[in-house]
Amino acid sequence: MKIIVAVTGASGSIYAERLLKYLSKNHKILAVFSKNAIKIYKEETGSSLKESADITLYDDDDFNAPFASGSSRCDAMVICPCSMGTLGRIASGVSDSLITRAADVMLKERRKLILVVRETPYNLIHIRNMETLTLSGAVICPACPSFYSKPQSIEDLVDTVVFRILDLLGVEHNGFRWGKAK
Ligand SMILES: Cc1cc2nc3c(=O)[nH]c(=O)nc-3n(C[C@H](O)[C@H](O)[C@H](O)COP(=O)(O)O)c2cc1C
Repeated sequence: MKIIVAVTGASGSIYAERLLKYLSKNHKILAVFSKNAIKIYKEETGSSLKESADITLYDDDDFNAPFASGSSRCDAMVICPCSMGTLGRIASGVSDSLITRAADVMLKERRKLILVVRETPYNLIHIRNMETLTLSGAVICPACPSFYSKPQSIEDLVDTVVFRILDLLGVEHNGFRWGKAK
């Protein structure tokens, strides 16, 4: 699959780091970081994302990127983590960056858009923006880990969210699943 992975300036860069690790093995990744995400990713993970054979990096002001247009062929877009600022701009149709334009394109083309929102608590504006985007066809997938798999490390805990994102994308993984298969 060809997947757009956008990273914005919410806390939780490790979610993006782990997601990219799983996706880049078998899929073509088109990655874009907001200005704030570049700083926060460096601060939280201690590194910056590098281009590789599977990952192409685009600047957030690069409207020449193929996925700025509906004529491009991308299977899905994930914004991980998604800040409330980016959520609000997408919900209002403000396509002033490559990330918000690409999200707008995914919605208008009726393609898969997954927003891994991270904020707590929510105000009414956040909730209304999530409602607007859900009604527009996006999936709100909060960066909200679960504990029933008994995670032993931060990476295990983060993966409880990352595996749900992979499920939403339709990407196979060997992560924990509740219940025994019959
Ligand atoms: C260290 C740090 C952590 C932040 N965490 C969050 C967060 O979890 N959620 C959020 O919505 N904004 C968070 N912010 C604020 C956003 O970075 C800010 O609203 C920014 O304008 C978002 O821009 P962007 O969506 O273009 O990246 C954080 C900022 C900093 C500096």
